[in-house]
Parts: sequence; structure tokens; C-alpha cells
Amino acid sequence: MKYNASIRKLSEIKSDITCIFSFQKSALGQQASDLDTATNQSLSKSIKNLGFKSELGSSITITSLDANSKQIIIVGLGEQKALNKASILKAAASATKDILAHTPKTITLGISDLAEHTAEAAEAFSSSIASASYRFETYKSEKSKKPTPTQLTFVCDKKEQNGVKKALGYSQAKSIGMALTRDLGNEPGNVATPSYLAKVAKEMAKEFNSLSCKVLEEKDMEKLNMGAFLSVSKGSTEPGKLIVLEYKGGAAKSAPHVLVGKGITFDTGGISLKPGQAMDEMKYDMCGAASVLGTMRAIAELAPKKNIIGVIAAAENMPAGNASKPGDIVTTASGQTVEILNTDAEGRLVLCDALTYVEKFKPKSVIDIATLTGACIIALGHSTSAVMSNNDEFAETLLQCGQEANDKAWQLPIWDEYHKQLDSPFADMQNIGGKGAGSITAACFLSKFAKKYTWAHLDIAGTAWTSGANKGATGRPVPLLLNYLMNHAK
Ligand code: BES
Ligand code: MN
Ligand code: ZN
Repeated sequence: MKYNASIRKLSEIKSDITCIFSFQKSALGQQASDLDTATNQSLSKSIKNLGFKSELGSSITITSLDANSKQIIIVGLGEQKALNKASILKAAASATKDILAHTPKTITLGISDLAEHTAEAAEAFSSSIASASYRFETYKSEKSKKPTPTQLTFVCDKKEQNGVKKALGYSQAKSIGMALTRDLGNEPGNVATPSYLAKVAKEMAKEFNSLSCKVLEEKDMEKLNMGAFLSVSKGSTEPGKLIVLEYKGGAAKSAPHVLVGKGITFDTGGISLKPGQAMDEMKYDMCGAASVLGTMRAIAELAPKKNIIGVIAAAENMPAGNASKPGDIVTTASGQTVEILNTDAEGRLVLCDALTYVEKFKPKSVIDIATLTGACIIALGHSTSAVMSNNDEFAETLLQCGQEANDKAWQLPIWDEYHKQLDSPFADMQNIGGKGAGSITAACFLSKFAKKYTWAHLDIAGTAWTSGANKGATGRPVPLLLNYLMNHAK
């Protein structure tokens, strides 16, 4: 989809659909009035005839025969003085449905009347339309015949044009990143293997000069004593990979921000086998890794003057004759030993060695992203990711990033009293914390490997994909991560 910020007259632009906005209890704005005049008062007549009240998120569609646009949608924004980010997001979500119902190829939105909110609106509407137009049809013999939009034009005043352009550039990069994240998540486990993720990272590095990629093989990981990672990957015939994707946009000496993604390309649970019900969804257990690749892709597009590194711990968790067993004890790259009481708590095992590995970058901040615990869905449901951190100020920043990016997260504590749940009679720790606070004890485990830098863990078990009729990867938390790296990471 092409994005455009135009200062032409709205009525002169040829389009399948033109979208214009109106406010409750007030006259049409300048841009809407101009369009009304150019279309023989079809807007004001329809508003009157249909008793349209411009309530937030409501809309009417006018099929106009004499306008340059085949259809005109008027979207209500509620009261003008109450207009804010939340109401714009709400209007964007419902307008997107109404717009796409007509399967337009070209969409034009007149946003001048939104005054100081034009840039915000450009981002909200473009993100919403891009996200709703996403399809994953690789394996359908018959593709959907409905066209998806190819051109999105925002019409604004000259003084807003630069702001709108910037917002659209950001939005487009974010949408490209999210689409990659969703594609990778939706690919089945027999395609999206650790080797496949490594291939995608390498191809991305070929495409962008600012990116370079290195892949550590199992033999390399043996040399680094990554006993925890290897205890997971050894049960699979698919070789595990530690993928390192570096973006260099800052000074050579400038310390990087690091993302670490859980890339379990299928989680059977291993010898602690999962029940069969909905086990297919464990192909999504690499969504943390997918969000790292999607964010790195968006970063490469936006080219900030910073150094950013994405690391992916990719492995398949299978039961096998040579798989790890409950009770096995392994030595991690940090030297700490772990008693594996449940082979289904494998995410923390691959991540802990990756967290030790990234110490060498002397990072300014490290965020790991993982579909780590079912308990996270019990705690926060499907709308909110969990943040746990060894630095409350950092956690607070990430919550704010999520709030701003419409990709919400909430903090859970990792206080000392929870750490006791990981005490093992035989090793330095065990890999499960028993009943209660499952997401927290998983984060406590990871924190023992992240002592040397500012670190946060995002549990995205509830937010990375949706189940049911609309099953599929969501592309979260790319918006949060991108907002952090672009606008908040120092
Ligand atoms: N990948 C799962 C977590 C998960 C489960 C995410 C369901 C989304 C939906 C993870 O590897 C896992 O199996 N965790 C266990 C941990 C337990 C054994 C301590 C869990 O949540 O049951
Ligand atoms: Mn598991
Ligand atoms: Zn898992």
C-alpha cells in the first residue's frame, strides 16, 4: 500500500472512497464544507435526512454520482473539544470496518478539520487500515477475490503536511514490521523452523546495508557452554540457532539497545508433553522472535541514529529418546546450574543463555520478548502484555510506550519473596516455581541471568495471537518496541 500526504482540494482527488469527518453539535468544518459544496450539498443533505448525529465512531456512506469519489463516508468524531488520542483510535477502528466493507483500492481521507490532531489521525487511520487489510493466504489454493487497498491519501493543510508525512513514514514502517511478525507467526511449524528464522534474518541483512547478521550453530553454543539452550534443542532433529541481527545507525562506540526473542518454533512441551487440545497454537511460540525480526525490519526502514541488536533464541521443543527429562540438571552459560523439573518450561531455558550472551554488547538496555507463560493469560487476558524488570523506571517507560502506541502492557513485581519458589534441593535453581505467580517466577528465573544490565521482560502469551474464528498472529508488541527504540531509548 502506498501512502501519500496531499494538499490538493479533497473534491478534486479521484478515489474509490473518500472519508471526511464531522463533529457533534457543530457545523461542518472547512474541508467538509468544501466537499459538500463540490458535491451539490450531498453531505449536508444526507446528514439531515438520516438524522446523523456525529457520535464518536458512527458513520454514514453516501454513494455520490457527481463526485470524483465513488463513495463518501462521513465519520463522526463526537464533540470537538473532547477529541483526543483515545477517541481518534476508536473512530479509526470503526471507520476502518466501514471503509473496507466497500473493498476500495484507493482511499482518501480529508483530515484538515482535525486541526492539531492531523498527524495523530494520519497514524491512527493508516495503521488501522493497514492492519485490517492484512491477509495470510500462502496456503490457500483459492485466494480471496476481495481487493486490498493500494493507495492511501491523507489530505491536509500545507502547514500540517510535514507532520503528516512523518507520521505516515513511521506508520508504514511499523505496518511492514507488523506484517512480517504476523507472517512469521502464522507460518506453520513445519515451515518456520529455526533455520527458516535464520534465513529470514540473513535475507534482511542482505537487503539493508545498515544490518548485519550472524548465526551461532549448536557447535558454537557448545563452546559457549550454553547447556540450558542445548537441553531444549537436543530433542529435535531441527538444529537450534542463536540468531544475531545488528543494526548500526549510531557511532561505533555508542552502546546498543538489545531485543532478545523467544523463538520456540514449536512447543510440544517435550517429555512433559502438553495435552492435545489446541496444541497447534504452539506454532506461535516463536512470536517473541517474530516481533524482534519485525521491529528490526521497521528500524532498518526508519534508520534512526542508534545502535540496536536483535537476538533470537530459536529451537524446537520435542519429546524424543534423547530429549531432556524431568530431574535433569544442566549448566547454563552463566555457570549457574538448573534442575529441569518440567521440560515444558523451555522458553526460560533458551532465553537464559541468550541473556548471558548479550552481556558482551555492554548494552544500555535489554528487553526480552516471549510467549512465556499460560499464567500471563490468566493474569492479564488477551489485551495486555506483562512487563517485569530489574529497574522500575525502565518498566514505567515501557508501560508509557505501550500506552502511546496502542499496545498496552502492565507491570508485575519480581520481588525477593517470589525467588524462593525457584529454590532447588540439587541445583542453583529449578526451572519452575510451582503453584501461584507463574509469570512472575518465570521472570524471576530470567532476572538471575540479567544482573549486569538494565533489563525488562515482556510476556506476550496473551497478546501475540488471537484464537477462535479469527485465529492469527497480531503483530504485537512491535508498536510498543518500535516506540521505545525510536522515541524513548536514549
Ligand atoms: N509456550 C508456553 C506458554 C504458553 C502457554 C503461551 C499457552 C501461550 C499459551 C510455555 O513454554 C509453557 O509451556 N509454559 C508453561 C510453564 C509451566 C510448565 C511452569 C505453562 O505456562 O504452562
Ligand atoms: Mn512450554
Ligand atoms: Zn513455550
